[in-house]
Amino acid sequence: QNLYLVSGYRSYADQAYSFSNAIERRGLTGAAEKNAYQGRSEHNLGLALDINIASDPEIRDAFAETTAGRWVNENGHLYGFILRYPRDKGHITGYGYEAWHYRYVGPELATTLFETGQTLEEYYGKEQELPDA
Ligand code: DAL
Ligand code: ZN
Repeated sequence: QNLYLVSGYRSYADQAYSFSNAIERRGLTGAAEKNAYQGRSEHNLGLALDINIASDPEIRDAFAETTAGRWVNENGHLYGFILRYPRDKGHITGYGYEAWHYRYVGPELATTLFETGQTLEEYYGKEQELPDA
C-alpha cells in the first residue's frame, strides 16, 4: 500500500473557502468541530498532512484500519509526526477524531507524545518542570 497525500499546505484563502462551505453544510458549531477557521489551521502553517492509501484518496477514518495506516500510527513519531486529533480527546483538542491528520513536531517531541499518549495541548498546558538543582 502506498500513501497518498490528500492535503498538505493550504493557503488562508483555501481554508476560508472550506470553512465557509462547512458552515453551509453543518452550521457554525458543527463546522468548528471539524474544520479550523482560516488562520487557525495547521494546514495554513504547513506542518499538517492529511493522508490515506493511494487506492482511496479521500480523508477517512478507515485509514486507521489499513496496513499503511497502522504503520503510520505506530511509526510516524520516529519521523516526527503525531496523530493530532485522537479519539476521545475532542474536549481537549477542540476537534473530533481525524485518523488522517498528522502533524510534524519533530522526532523528539513526537516520541514523547506517542509514549505518554498526550496531545499537544496536554503537553504544553503542563507546568514546566524545573530541572533538579
Ligand atoms: N481539520 C483540521 C482541524 C483543520 O482544518 O486544520
Ligand atoms: Zn488535516
